Amino acid sequence: MLRHLLEVDDLAADELTTVLNLAEELDPPQVLAGWGAALLFEKPSNRTRLSMELAIVQLGGHPVSLRNDEVGIDTRETAEDLARVFSGMCALVGARVFEHSKLERMAASASVPVINLLSDDAHPVQALADLLTLRQRLGSLEGRSVAYVGDGNNVCRSLMAAAALAGMQMRVATPKGYEPPADGVAELTNDPAEAVGGVDAVYTDVWASMGQEADAARRRADFAAFTVDDGLMARAAPDAIFLHCLPAHRGEEVAASVLEGPQSVVWQQSTNRMHAQRGLMIWLLSQ
Ligand code: CP
Ligand code: NVA
Repeated sequence: MLRHLLEVDDLAADELTTVLNLAEELDPPQVLAGWGAALLFEKPSNRTRLSMELAIVQLGGHPVSLRNDEVGIDTRETAEDLARVFSGMCALVGARVFEHSKLERMAASASVPVINLLSDDAHPVQALADLLTLRQRLGSLEGRSVAYVGDGNNVCRSLMAAAALAGMQMRVATPKGYEPPADGVAELTNDPAEAVGGVDAVYTDVWASMGQEADAARRRADFAAFTVDDGLMARAAPDAIFLHCLPAHRGEEVAASVLEGPQSVVWQQSTNRMHAQRGLMIWLLSQ
């Protein structure tokens, strides 16, 4: 059966566990041997392109990364036509887009799996790597707690979906007006200190996401009390870990001392992008 990953909850809880287990498979099956995979980027990327390309090679495949200024999604040709062309030559498609609806339209027209490589609404492949990192560091996920401090953005929303699916407790602290949509599971607050109290993990992301650059100055003012610094980390559990999807802005959403400090697991987290996506692709291609 054809499956896509546009948000984490496209997976059932047991499927999520299977993907995380496959991510730790040291001798991955060559499910992409002889096949290409198309990766389309409407926004900049470092980790996502690198980790997808390398994971595809580790599965025996050949990645082809395409920038949107070459392809022109919905300008040179429609998202639907792109999906049909990719499907004819590739075993899977990944796309990083502004409007999430472009991914939904591609998935509706594709005959191979479509993976969301970040949209304005969701970053599910990041959340898979986040869960893998949390599981490796905390030993388990069920009942453990994570606090997200910052903008209720794509990364926050996918982490909420991932935490709910994994049975984790999650608290989200944003300034007023920057809350993610409530999911009935995560606790939302406007107080960072309240959110991080006693948690196993603290997570943050940039205050201005790609596409919001013109709003950066206003956001810096609105988020001034939301820096994850040593004082905030001291309110979490004594052995709490710090996560960040990267790229990071030291002195804005995170203090340099936290990012570089002993509680930070951000480099392991970035490497886990490759492992988690490899596990995801093995799973998607075996459905
Ligand atoms: N975390 C993440 O997705 O990084 P890039 O934007 O560099 O791909
Ligand atoms: N929220 C950020 C994440 C970057 C990986 C953005 O969308 O730019």
